[in-house]
Amino acid sequence: MWRPVSSKNVVSSLSPARRCGRLLVLSLGLVLLLLYWDPIREAQKEQYHLGHENVLGQENNGELSDARIPEDTDAVVFHSFDFDPEQVPAVRRPEQVYVWLSMESPKWDGFSYGKILQFGRPGFFNWTSTYHRESDVMHPYGGLLPLQGEVDYVRPGLLNKSGVAYGEYLAALAGGDLQQEIKGKDWAAFLERPKLVVWMVSHCSTSSGREVYVQELQQHTEVDVFGSCGELKCSIESIEECYTKVLRPTYKFYLAFENNLCEDYVTEKAWLPLRHGLVPVVFGGARYSDILPPLSYVDATHRTPLQLANHLSSIARSPQLYGRYHLWRKYWEVLPWPPLCEICLKLHSLVSPMHRDGEDMGRRRYYPNLRSWWWSVNNCTTLYPRRRYPHLEFVGL
Ligand SMILES: *[C@@H]1O[C@H](CO)[C@@H](O)[C@H](O)[C@H]1NC(C)=O
Ligand SMILES: *[C@@H]1O[C@H](CO)[C@@H](O)[C@H](O)[C@H]1NC(C)=O
Ligand SMILES: *[C@@H]1O[C@H](CO)[C@@H](O)[C@H](O)[C@H]1NC(C)=O
Repeated sequence: MWRPVSSKNVVSSLSPARRCGRLLVLSLGLVLLLLYWDPIREAQKEQYHLGHENVLGQENNGELSDARIPEDTDAVVFHSFDFDPEQVPAVRRPEQVYVWLSMESPKWDGFSYGKILQFGRPGFFNWTSTYHRESDVMHPYGGLLPLQGEVDYVRPGLLNKSGVAYGEYLAALAGGDLQQEIKGKDWAAFLERPKLVVWMVSHCSTSSGREVYVQELQQHTEVDVFGSCGELKCSIESIEECYTKVLRPTYKFYLAFENNLCEDYVTEKAWLPLRHGLVPVVFGGARYSDILPPLSYVDATHRTPLQLANHLSSIARSPQLYGRYHLWRKYWEVLPWPPLCEICLKLHSLVSPMHRDGEDMGRRRYYPNLRSWWWSVNNCTTLYPRRRYPHLEFVGL
């Protein structure tokens, strides 16, 4: 039986309206509580976006995070990395949804799949919440928010190709529009950057083999490397300032090379440069055209290092052409951690008045084998480029 908990947690009071607002109007009169279950590392809840401005609106953060009684919630979210089967809530109502949250690819994951099997609960999780679109709730590293209209979309991590922003953007591209119309005289200064390409990296050897690609790229063009695998340091505490003060004024392109090649796995490596005024050169297992607008990024996976070096230099030679890689900024803004509208919407449809009183509308689900589901949807490959792109010729490999 669905039952209201405490009125102070009514989600319908949430804002900001531009973010989750319209979705939540649907939920008037309903009560919904989300709990991030992490009894051990309470201090880290910031990291899982509870108490983050974007999650459920500023005003309610304190109250939501005070809700510490797991059986009173409609959903409990377990962060994969910290999951401890011996520390699960003692009571579980059948209506409650247990959600598995993971931001990591299957290759790099602290979740002890073995432990949960030993624990004898292979169907423990009802929903999944990850960067992958096959998840019940998509939880991407970033998303695009249209600057006008259309605020009610559910999955900002995927490009909405039927949306107004996309249509207008394609028309602007076709019409040869230039950003300078809105940026005015600052436009030339924005595009002016002395160097071509930068890479910021801290894992020097990866299963994607990106370092092999970059080594060859360096034979054709200069790549400045920041972080523990390179010689340069930002000397600035915050990553945002490193982008705005050091990288953005200096470099045209940023190597957004993922350490794993898995479907939909697009991390902050691509979103941060987009957000801070650089053009990412992407390398990963995702179909980027489903996620980012055309001419907002350069795809390295379809090019050899030599082809990429030539391509980047030819774009950089023409301020007009380089400027077109920023035209999308007129239509969208990048949201670093998009709000959790989808989980709200799904929970509300689960507990909407029609489904009250224990009526089972066939919506119940759980994952009998989480591990095999997660590996199969990701279809990760390793050892770029030979396995994934056998048609590309690489010198010196
Ligand atoms: C995409 O945009 C259209 C038009 O605004 C909207 O009706 C639709 O719901 C959006 N799709 C998604 C998945 O958000
Ligand atoms: C959640 O999964 C459990 C099995 O672990 C199942 O008994 C329950 O009905 C499921 N609930 C929903 C809402 O899907
Ligand atoms: C998995 O990836 C391989 C190699 O990229 C591809 O050939 C195959 O079609 C993919 N499988 C699925 C189910 O998408």
